[in-house]
Amino acid sequence: MKKLFIKTYGCQMNAYDSARMADLLAPLGFEGADTPEGADMVILNTCHIREKAVDKVYSELGRLALMKRAKPDMLVAVAGCVAQAESEEMVRRAPVVDMLVGPQSYHRLPEMIARHARDHGHQLQTDFPALEKFDHLPEAVSNTGVSAFLTVQEGCDKFCTFCVVPYTRGPEHSRSPEAVIAEAKALASRGAREIILLGQNVNAYRGGDACDWNLARLIEAVAAIPEISRVRYTTSHPRDMDDDLIAAHGNIEKLMPFLHLPVQSGSDKILEAMNRQHRAEDYLCLIDRLRSARPDIAFSSDFIIGFPGESDADFEATMALVRQVKFAQCFSFKYSPRPGTPAAAARKTVPDKVKTERLLALQALLLEQQDQANLAAIGKTLPVLFEKLGREPGQLVGRTPYLQPVHVYGPKQLLGEVCNVTLEALTANSLHGRLTQTPENVLA
Ligand code: SAH
Ligand code: SF4
Ligand code: F3S
Repeated sequence: MKKLFIKTYGCQMNAYDSARMADLLAPLGFEGADTPEGADMVILNTCHIREKAVDKVYSELGRLALMKRAKPDMLVAVAGCVAQAESEEMVRRAPVVDMLVGPQSYHRLPEMIARHARDHGHQLQTDFPALEKFDHLPEAVSNTGVSAFLTVQEGCDKFCTFCVVPYTRGPEHSRSPEAVIAEAKALASRGAREIILLGQNVNAYRGGDACDWNLARLIEAVAAIPEISRVRYTTSHPRDMDDDLIAAHGNIEKLMPFLHLPVQSGSDKILEAMNRQHRAEDYLCLIDRLRSARPDIAFSSDFIIGFPGESDADFEATMALVRQVKFAQCFSFKYSPRPGTPAAAARKTVPDKVKTERLLALQALLLEQQDQANLAAIGKTLPVLFEKLGREPGQLVGRTPYLQPVHVYGPKQLLGEVCNVTLEALTANSLHGRLTQTPENVLA
Protein backbone atom coordinates (compact mmCIF):
# COMPACT_ATOMS: atom_id res chain seq x y z
CA MET A 1 0.00 0.00 0.00
CA LYS A 2 1.09 3.59 -0.71
CA LYS A 3 0.60 6.29 1.93
CA LEU A 4 -1.61 9.31 1.25
CA PHE A 5 -1.62 12.34 3.54
CA ILE A 6 -4.36 14.94 2.99
CA LYS A 7 -4.34 18.24 4.86
CA THR A 8 -7.58 20.20 4.76
CA TYR A 9 -7.97 23.96 5.17
CA GLY A 10 -11.14 26.08 4.97
CA CYS A 11 -14.80 25.15 5.08
CA GLN A 12 -16.75 21.92 5.57
CA MET A 13 -17.10 21.53 1.82
CA ASN A 14 -13.35 21.12 1.64
CA ALA A 15 -13.55 18.49 4.41
CA TYR A 16 -16.14 16.63 2.33
CA ASP A 17 -13.98 16.92 -0.81
CA SER A 18 -10.92 15.59 1.04
CA ALA A 19 -12.86 12.49 2.06
CA ARG A 20 -14.00 12.01 -1.54
CA MET A 21 -10.41 12.36 -2.81
CA ALA A 22 -9.35 9.62 -0.38
CA ASP A 23 -12.16 7.40 -1.75
CA LEU A 24 -11.08 8.16 -5.29
CA LEU A 25 -7.45 7.25 -4.70
CA ALA A 26 -8.05 4.11 -2.59
CA PRO A 27 -8.45 1.87 -5.69
CA LEU A 28 -5.00 3.08 -6.85
CA GLY A 29 -3.51 1.53 -3.72
CA PHE A 30 -3.38 4.63 -1.50
CA GLU A 31 -4.27 4.40 2.18
CA GLY A 32 -4.58 7.30 4.61
CA ALA A 33 -1.56 8.47 6.65
CA ASP A 34 -1.62 10.73 9.72
CA THR A 35 1.52 12.71 8.87
CA PRO A 36 3.26 13.85 5.66
CA GLU A 37 6.57 12.26 6.77
CA GLY A 38 7.22 9.26 4.58
CA ALA A 39 4.00 9.70 2.57
CA ASP A 40 4.02 8.75 -1.12
CA MET A 41 1.52 11.47 -1.91
CA VAL A 42 0.53 14.66 -0.08
CA ILE A 43 -2.55 16.67 -0.99
CA LEU A 44 -3.10 20.13 0.45
CA ASN A 45 -6.80 20.93 0.06
CA THR A 46 -6.62 24.69 0.30
CA CYS A 47 -8.72 27.76 1.14
CA HIS A 48 -8.49 31.21 -0.48
CA ILE A 49 -11.03 33.07 1.65
CA ARG A 50 -8.58 35.27 3.59
CA GLU A 51 -4.92 36.13 3.06
CA LYS A 52 -3.90 34.22 6.20
CA ALA A 53 -5.42 31.01 4.84
CA VAL A 54 -3.27 31.33 1.71
CA ASP A 55 -0.09 32.14 3.70
CA LYS A 56 -0.51 28.90 5.63
CA VAL A 57 -0.48 26.92 2.38
CA TYR A 58 2.78 28.49 1.17
CA SER A 59 4.51 27.85 4.48
CA GLU A 60 3.36 24.21 4.43
CA LEU A 61 4.72 23.92 0.88
CA GLY A 62 8.06 25.19 2.20
CA ARG A 63 8.14 22.32 4.71
CA LEU A 64 7.13 19.82 2.03
CA ALA A 65 9.96 21.03 -0.24
CA LEU A 66 12.47 20.02 2.47
CA MET A 67 10.76 16.64 2.90
CA LYS A 68 10.81 16.04 -0.82
CA ARG A 69 14.57 16.46 -0.88
CA ALA A 70 14.80 13.36 1.31
CA LYS A 71 12.11 11.51 -0.67
CA PRO A 72 12.20 12.83 -4.26
CA ASP A 73 9.41 10.55 -5.53
CA MET A 74 6.86 11.99 -3.08
CA LEU A 75 3.98 13.47 -5.10
CA VAL A 76 2.75 16.91 -3.99
CA ALA A 77 -0.70 18.00 -5.12
CA VAL A 78 -2.50 21.23 -4.28
CA ALA A 79 -6.28 21.02 -4.48
CA GLY A 80 -9.08 23.39 -3.52
CA CYS A 81 -9.62 27.10 -3.80
CA VAL A 82 -6.00 28.36 -3.85
CA ALA A 83 -5.22 25.92 -6.68
CA GLN A 84 -8.21 27.34 -8.52
CA ALA A 85 -7.43 30.99 -7.88
CA GLU A 86 -3.69 31.20 -8.37
CA SER A 87 -2.50 28.09 -10.16
CA GLU A 88 0.07 29.79 -12.37
CA GLU A 89 1.51 31.90 -9.57
CA MET A 90 1.78 28.80 -7.42
CA VAL A 91 3.74 26.86 -10.01
CA ARG A 92 6.20 29.79 -10.07
CA ARG A 93 6.38 30.35 -6.30
CA ALA A 94 6.41 26.71 -5.23
CA PRO A 95 8.16 24.43 -7.73
CA VAL A 96 7.68 21.55 -5.25
CA VAL A 97 4.08 21.27 -6.48
CA ASP A 98 3.61 18.42 -8.99
CA MET A 99 -0.07 18.92 -9.68
CA LEU A 100 -2.81 21.45 -9.11
CA VAL A 101 -6.47 20.59 -9.20
CA GLY A 102 -9.46 22.88 -8.66
CA PRO A 103 -12.49 22.05 -6.47
CA GLN A 104 -14.57 21.02 -9.49
CA SER A 105 -11.93 18.88 -11.20
CA TYR A 106 -10.47 16.59 -8.56
CA HIS A 107 -12.24 13.57 -10.08
CA ARG A 108 -9.41 13.78 -12.65
CA LEU A 109 -6.67 13.07 -10.07
CA PRO A 110 -6.17 9.39 -11.09
CA GLU A 111 -5.47 10.29 -14.73
CA MET A 112 -3.22 13.17 -13.61
CA ILE A 113 -1.20 10.79 -11.44
CA ALA A 114 -0.84 8.39 -14.37
CA ARG A 115 0.27 11.20 -16.67
CA HIS A 116 2.73 12.49 -14.09
CA ALA A 117 4.31 9.03 -13.87
CA ARG A 118 4.77 9.18 -17.68
CA ASP A 119 6.11 12.67 -18.28
CA HIS A 120 6.85 14.32 -14.89
CA GLY A 121 5.49 17.72 -15.97
CA HIS A 122 3.34 20.04 -13.84
CA GLN A 123 -0.30 19.11 -14.17
CA LEU A 124 -3.12 21.65 -14.05
CA GLN A 125 -6.86 21.03 -13.93
CA THR A 126 -8.86 24.08 -12.97
CA ASP A 127 -11.89 24.28 -15.24
CA PHE A 128 -15.47 24.13 -13.93
CA PRO A 129 -17.07 20.88 -15.12
CA ALA A 130 -19.35 20.86 -12.05
CA LEU A 131 -21.96 18.68 -13.70
CA GLU A 132 -19.34 16.12 -14.42
CA LYS A 133 -17.57 15.81 -11.07
CA PHE A 134 -20.17 13.98 -9.02
CA ASP A 135 -20.87 11.57 -11.92
CA HIS A 136 -17.23 10.49 -11.90
CA LEU A 137 -16.65 10.00 -8.20
CA PRO A 138 -16.93 6.59 -6.59
CA GLU A 139 -19.48 6.10 -3.83
CA ALA A 140 -18.50 7.91 -0.64
CA VAL A 141 -16.99 5.40 1.75
CA SER A 142 -14.45 7.08 3.99
CA ASN A 143 -16.70 9.92 5.07
CA THR A 144 -18.57 7.91 7.66
CA GLY A 145 -18.81 8.90 11.24
CA VAL A 146 -21.93 9.31 13.33
CA SER A 147 -22.25 12.80 11.88
CA ALA A 148 -21.58 12.94 8.12
CA PHE A 149 -21.24 15.80 5.65
CA LEU A 150 -23.06 15.55 2.35
CA THR A 151 -22.51 18.21 -0.31
CA VAL A 152 -25.76 18.95 -2.15
CA GLN A 153 -25.03 22.32 -3.71
CA GLU A 154 -21.87 24.04 -4.87
CA GLY A 155 -20.78 27.41 -6.14
CA CYS A 156 -22.19 30.85 -5.71
CA ASP A 157 -23.93 33.44 -7.91
CA LYS A 158 -24.22 36.12 -5.19
CA PHE A 159 -20.93 37.97 -5.74
CA CYS A 160 -20.58 39.66 -2.36
CA THR A 161 -17.93 42.28 -3.08
CA PHE A 162 -15.41 40.87 -0.56
CA CYS A 163 -15.61 37.21 -1.49
CA VAL A 164 -13.57 34.87 -3.71
CA VAL A 165 -15.97 31.92 -3.63
CA PRO A 166 -17.85 32.73 -6.88
CA TYR A 167 -14.47 32.75 -8.64
CA THR A 168 -13.00 29.66 -6.99
CA ARG A 169 -16.09 27.43 -6.90
CA GLY A 170 -17.90 28.67 -9.99
CA PRO A 171 -21.64 29.17 -10.54
CA GLU A 172 -24.39 27.68 -8.35
CA HIS A 173 -25.13 24.06 -9.14
CA SER A 174 -27.36 21.58 -7.29
CA ARG A 175 -26.98 17.80 -7.29
CA SER A 176 -30.03 15.73 -8.19
CA PRO A 177 -32.30 14.76 -5.27
CA GLU A 178 -31.94 11.11 -6.29
CA ALA A 179 -28.14 11.26 -5.96
CA VAL A 180 -28.36 13.06 -2.61
CA ILE A 181 -30.90 10.63 -1.15
CA ALA A 182 -28.92 7.60 -2.39
CA GLU A 183 -25.76 8.99 -0.76
CA ALA A 184 -27.61 9.74 2.49
CA LYS A 185 -28.94 6.14 2.57
CA ALA A 186 -25.46 4.76 1.90
CA LEU A 187 -24.04 6.89 4.73
CA ALA A 188 -26.83 5.72 7.05
CA SER A 189 -26.15 2.08 6.21
CA ARG A 190 -22.53 2.61 7.27
CA GLY A 191 -23.40 4.18 10.62
CA ALA A 192 -24.23 7.85 10.00
CA ARG A 193 -27.05 9.06 12.26
CA GLU A 194 -26.77 12.77 11.52
CA ILE A 195 -26.53 14.22 8.00
CA ILE A 196 -25.25 17.75 7.50
CA LEU A 197 -26.32 18.96 4.07
CA LEU A 198 -23.62 21.24 2.70
CA GLY A 199 -23.43 24.02 0.14
CA GLN A 200 -21.84 27.45 -0.22
CA ASN A 201 -25.45 28.61 -0.48
CA VAL A 202 -27.19 25.45 0.58
CA ASN A 203 -30.60 27.08 0.84
CA ALA A 204 -30.39 28.08 -2.84
CA TYR A 205 -30.71 24.33 -3.55
CA ARG A 206 -32.87 23.72 -6.62
CA GLY A 207 -32.83 20.08 -7.68
CA GLY A 208 -34.80 17.76 -9.90
CA ASP A 209 -35.43 17.86 -13.66
CA ALA A 210 -38.05 20.59 -13.24
CA CYS A 211 -36.04 22.30 -10.47
CA ASP A 212 -39.04 21.60 -8.25
CA TRP A 213 -37.02 20.40 -5.27
CA ASN A 214 -36.06 23.09 -2.80
CA LEU A 215 -34.02 22.54 0.35
CA ALA A 216 -37.10 22.02 2.55
CA ARG A 217 -38.24 19.13 0.35
CA LEU A 218 -34.75 17.63 0.34
CA ILE A 219 -34.52 17.84 4.15
CA GLU A 220 -37.88 16.09 4.42
CA ALA A 221 -36.69 13.27 2.16
CA VAL A 222 -33.43 12.80 4.09
CA ALA A 223 -35.31 12.95 7.42
CA ALA A 224 -37.54 10.13 6.16
CA ILE A 225 -34.59 7.69 6.17
CA PRO A 226 -35.31 5.63 9.32
CA GLU A 227 -31.69 5.34 10.59
CA ILE A 228 -31.16 9.10 10.38
CA SER A 229 -32.03 10.81 13.64
CA ARG A 230 -30.83 14.35 12.92
CA VAL A 231 -30.54 16.64 9.90
CA ARG A 232 -28.69 19.97 9.71
CA TYR A 233 -27.67 22.24 6.82
CA THR A 234 -25.04 24.90 6.25
CA THR A 235 -24.28 27.60 4.98
CA SER A 236 -27.34 29.64 4.20
CA HIS A 237 -27.77 33.09 2.71
CA PRO A 238 -30.50 35.24 4.29
CA ARG A 239 -31.96 35.99 0.85
CA ASP A 240 -32.64 32.32 0.19
CA MET A 241 -34.50 31.56 3.46
CA ASP A 242 -37.83 30.78 1.78
CA ASP A 243 -41.23 30.15 3.41
CA ASP A 244 -40.96 26.37 3.03
CA LEU A 245 -37.60 26.28 4.79
CA ILE A 246 -38.82 28.44 7.66
CA ALA A 247 -41.89 26.21 8.00
CA ALA A 248 -39.66 23.10 7.90
CA HIS A 249 -38.09 24.25 11.18
CA GLY A 250 -41.52 23.95 12.78
CA ASN A 251 -42.67 20.77 11.00
CA ILE A 252 -39.73 18.41 10.62
CA GLU A 253 -38.84 16.94 13.97
CA LYS A 254 -35.44 15.61 12.87
CA LEU A 255 -34.37 19.05 11.59
CA MET A 256 -32.28 20.41 14.46
CA PRO A 257 -33.12 23.80 16.00
CA PHE A 258 -29.83 25.46 15.14
CA LEU A 259 -29.14 27.69 12.16
CA HIS A 260 -25.93 29.27 10.90
CA LEU A 261 -27.12 32.37 9.08
CA PRO A 262 -24.28 34.78 8.23
CA VAL A 263 -25.16 38.47 8.34
CA GLN A 264 -21.62 39.99 8.06
CA SER A 265 -22.66 43.48 9.30
CA GLY A 266 -25.52 45.28 11.04
CA SER A 267 -25.12 48.48 9.00
CA ASP A 268 -27.30 48.96 5.92
CA LYS A 269 -24.63 51.11 4.29
CA ILE A 270 -22.02 48.36 4.68
CA LEU A 271 -24.46 45.61 3.71
CA GLU A 272 -25.11 47.50 0.49
CA ALA A 273 -21.41 48.03 -0.20
CA MET A 274 -20.94 44.30 0.38
CA ASN A 275 -23.75 43.54 -2.13
CA ARG A 276 -25.50 41.34 0.43
CA GLN A 277 -28.86 42.36 -1.08
CA HIS A 278 -30.75 42.76 2.19
CA ARG A 279 -30.99 45.25 5.06
CA ALA A 280 -30.35 44.65 8.76
CA GLU A 281 -34.10 44.86 9.35
CA ASP A 282 -34.75 42.06 6.82
CA TYR A 283 -32.36 39.85 8.76
CA LEU A 284 -34.04 40.65 12.08
CA CYS A 285 -37.42 39.91 10.53
CA LEU A 286 -36.15 36.50 9.36
CA ILE A 287 -34.90 35.73 12.87
CA ASP A 288 -38.37 36.58 14.24
CA ARG A 289 -40.11 34.36 11.69
CA LEU A 290 -37.78 31.46 12.44
CA ARG A 291 -38.35 31.91 16.19
CA SER A 292 -42.09 31.86 15.59
CA ALA A 293 -41.76 28.58 13.66
CA ARG A 294 -39.42 27.04 16.26
CA PRO A 295 -39.26 29.04 19.49
CA ASP A 296 -36.13 27.34 20.87
CA ILE A 297 -34.03 27.73 17.69
CA ALA A 298 -30.44 28.87 18.31
CA PHE A 299 -28.52 31.03 15.83
CA SER A 300 -24.95 31.48 14.77
CA SER A 301 -23.47 33.90 12.26
CA ASP A 302 -20.38 35.24 10.49
CA PHE A 303 -19.17 38.85 10.79
CA ILE A 304 -16.63 40.82 8.80
CA ILE A 305 -15.10 43.70 10.73
CA GLY A 306 -13.38 46.68 9.13
CA PHE A 307 -14.89 46.41 5.67
CA PRO A 308 -13.83 49.51 3.62
CA GLY A 309 -15.86 52.56 4.70
CA GLU A 310 -16.96 51.04 8.06
CA SER A 311 -17.34 53.96 10.50
CA ASP A 312 -17.76 53.82 14.28
CA ALA A 313 -21.52 54.19 13.75
CA ASP A 314 -21.56 51.27 11.26
CA PHE A 315 -19.69 49.11 13.75
CA GLU A 316 -22.10 50.17 16.51
CA ALA A 317 -24.98 49.03 14.26
CA THR A 318 -23.35 45.59 14.11
CA MET A 319 -23.05 45.51 17.91
CA ALA A 320 -26.73 46.56 18.20
CA LEU A 321 -27.82 43.75 15.87
CA VAL A 322 -25.85 41.22 17.92
CA ARG A 323 -27.43 42.49 21.15
CA GLN A 324 -30.87 42.16 19.61
CA VAL A 325 -30.50 38.64 18.17
CA LYS A 326 -28.47 37.00 20.97
CA PHE A 327 -26.39 34.41 19.16
CA ALA A 328 -25.45 31.01 20.54
CA GLN A 329 -22.12 30.95 18.71
CA CYS A 330 -20.37 33.04 16.00
CA PHE A 331 -17.37 33.48 13.74
CA SER A 332 -15.88 36.92 13.23
CA PHE A 333 -13.03 38.01 10.99
CA LYS A 334 -11.09 41.13 10.11
CA TYR A 335 -11.77 42.10 6.53
CA SER A 336 -9.03 40.76 4.26
CA PRO A 337 -8.82 42.32 0.77
CA ARG A 338 -8.81 39.55 -1.84
CA PRO A 339 -7.25 39.95 -5.29
CA GLY A 340 -9.81 40.28 -8.07
CA THR A 341 -12.78 41.12 -5.81
CA PRO A 342 -14.47 44.54 -6.20
CA ALA A 343 -13.96 45.58 -2.54
CA ALA A 344 -10.19 45.12 -2.83
CA ALA A 345 -10.07 48.26 -5.03
CA ALA A 346 -11.79 50.45 -2.39
CA ARG A 347 -9.77 53.45 -1.21
CA LYS A 348 -11.48 54.17 2.15
CA THR A 349 -9.90 51.33 4.08
CA VAL A 350 -10.02 50.87 7.86
CA PRO A 351 -6.64 50.95 9.66
CA ASP A 352 -5.60 47.60 11.13
CA LYS A 353 -5.46 49.02 14.66
CA VAL A 354 -9.14 50.04 14.42
CA LYS A 355 -10.08 46.66 12.96
CA THR A 356 -8.38 44.95 15.91
CA GLU A 357 -10.13 47.13 18.51
CA ARG A 358 -13.53 46.54 16.93
CA LEU A 359 -12.97 42.81 16.50
CA LEU A 360 -12.00 42.44 20.17
CA ALA A 361 -15.10 44.35 21.29
CA LEU A 362 -17.36 42.24 19.09
CA GLN A 363 -15.75 38.98 20.14
CA ALA A 364 -16.13 39.86 23.83
CA LEU A 365 -19.86 40.43 23.28
CA LEU A 366 -20.25 37.23 21.24
CA LEU A 367 -18.42 35.20 23.86
CA GLU A 368 -20.66 36.59 26.59
CA GLN A 369 -23.71 35.54 24.57
CA GLN A 370 -22.27 32.08 23.93
CA ASP A 371 -21.61 31.62 27.66
CA GLN A 372 -25.14 32.76 28.45
CA ALA A 373 -26.60 30.24 25.98
CA ASN A 374 -24.50 27.45 27.51
CA LEU A 375 -25.21 28.45 31.12
CA ALA A 376 -28.93 28.49 30.33
CA ALA A 377 -28.64 24.80 29.43
CA ILE A 378 -27.35 23.82 32.88
CA GLY A 379 -29.95 21.95 34.89
CA LYS A 380 -31.87 21.03 31.72
CA THR A 381 -32.23 17.53 30.31
CA LEU A 382 -31.56 17.44 26.57
CA PRO A 383 -31.28 14.71 23.94
CA VAL A 384 -27.61 14.21 23.02
CA LEU A 385 -26.36 12.33 19.97
CA PHE A 386 -23.08 10.60 20.86
CA GLU A 387 -20.52 11.06 18.09
CA LYS A 388 -17.15 9.90 19.39
CA LEU A 389 -15.13 8.70 22.37
CA GLY A 390 -13.73 11.37 24.67
CA ARG A 391 -10.09 11.69 25.68
CA GLU A 392 -10.62 10.24 29.15
CA PRO A 393 -11.39 6.52 29.53
CA GLY A 394 -15.16 5.85 29.57
CA GLN A 395 -15.96 9.32 28.29
CA LEU A 396 -18.26 10.03 25.34
CA VAL A 397 -18.66 13.24 23.36
CA GLY A 398 -21.93 14.25 21.78
CA ARG A 399 -23.98 17.28 20.86
CA THR A 400 -27.24 18.80 21.99
CA PRO A 401 -29.82 19.77 19.35
CA TYR A 402 -28.29 23.28 19.58
CA LEU A 403 -24.87 21.97 18.51
CA GLN A 404 -23.30 22.39 21.95
CA PRO A 405 -20.61 19.79 22.67
CA VAL A 406 -21.33 17.62 25.72
CA HIS A 407 -19.04 15.24 27.64
CA VAL A 408 -20.49 12.40 29.72
CA TYR A 409 -19.33 9.06 31.13
CA GLY A 410 -21.12 6.08 29.60
CA PRO A 411 -20.71 2.82 27.67
CA LYS A 412 -19.22 3.07 24.18
CA GLN A 413 -22.23 1.20 22.77
CA LEU A 414 -24.00 4.54 23.02
CA LEU A 415 -22.06 5.91 20.02
CA GLY A 416 -24.64 6.75 17.36
CA GLU A 417 -27.48 6.81 19.90
CA VAL A 418 -29.51 9.76 21.12
CA CYS A 419 -29.88 9.72 24.92
CA ASN A 420 -31.22 12.16 27.45
CA VAL A 421 -28.50 13.92 29.39
CA THR A 422 -28.90 16.23 32.37
CA LEU A 423 -26.41 19.05 31.96
CA GLU A 424 -24.50 19.90 35.12
CA ALA A 425 -21.45 22.06 34.41
CA LEU A 426 -19.74 24.24 31.82
CA THR A 427 -16.01 24.34 31.10
CA ALA A 428 -14.26 26.45 28.45
CA ASN A 429 -15.25 24.37 25.45
CA SER A 430 -17.92 22.00 26.59
CA LEU A 431 -20.91 21.14 28.73
CA HIS A 432 -20.67 18.19 31.10
CA GLY A 433 -23.59 16.05 32.11
CA ARG A 434 -24.96 12.78 33.37
CA LEU A 435 -26.95 10.17 31.45
CA THR A 436 -30.54 10.14 32.60
CA GLN A 437 -31.89 7.65 30.13
CA THR A 438 -30.21 4.89 28.15
CA PRO A 439 -31.98 3.18 25.27
CA GLU A 440 -33.11 -0.36 26.12
CA ASN A 441 -31.46 -1.93 23.08
CA VAL A 442 -28.07 -0.80 24.38
CA LEU A 443 -28.63 -2.01 27.97
CA ALA A 444 -29.97 -5.39 26.86
N1 SAH B 1 -21.57 31.46 1.64
C1 SAH B 1 -21.41 31.91 2.95
C2 SAH B 1 -20.00 32.26 3.37
C3 SAH B 1 -18.83 31.58 2.84
S1 SAH B 1 -17.29 32.24 3.31
C4 SAH B 1 -22.27 33.15 3.13
O1 SAH B 1 -22.69 33.78 2.20
O2 SAH B 1 -22.49 33.52 4.23
C5 SAH B 1 -17.31 32.12 5.08
C6 SAH B 1 -17.15 33.43 5.77
O3 SAH B 1 -15.87 33.99 5.54
C7 SAH B 1 -18.10 34.52 5.31
O4 SAH B 1 -19.38 34.41 5.87
C8 SAH B 1 -17.39 35.78 5.74
O5 SAH B 1 -17.76 36.18 7.03
C9 SAH B 1 -15.92 35.38 5.72
N2 SAH B 1 -15.20 36.03 4.61
C10 SAH B 1 -15.40 35.87 3.30
N3 SAH B 1 -14.57 36.67 2.59
C11 SAH B 1 -13.84 37.37 3.49
C12 SAH B 1 -12.83 38.38 3.38
N4 SAH B 1 -12.43 38.85 2.21
N5 SAH B 1 -12.31 38.87 4.55
C13 SAH B 1 -12.72 38.42 5.75
N6 SAH B 1 -13.66 37.48 5.90
C14 SAH B 1 -14.23 36.96 4.79
FE1 SF4 C 1 -19.18 34.51 -0.76
FE2 SF4 C 1 -21.37 35.98 -0.66
FE3 SF4 C 1 -21.34 33.77 -2.11
FE4 SF4 C 1 -21.31 33.62 0.55
S1 SF4 C 1 -22.96 34.44 -0.72
S2 SF4 C 1 -20.04 32.46 -0.87
S3 SF4 C 1 -20.09 35.38 1.10
S4 SF4 C 1 -20.16 35.60 -2.49
FE1 F3S D 1 -12.23 28.52 1.57
FE2 F3S D 1 -12.96 27.70 -0.78
FE3 F3S D 1 -14.35 26.99 1.35
S1 F3S D 1 -12.14 29.67 -0.33
S2 F3S D 1 -14.08 28.73 2.69
S3 F3S D 1 -12.28 26.43 0.91
S4 F3S D 1 -15.14 27.48 -0.65
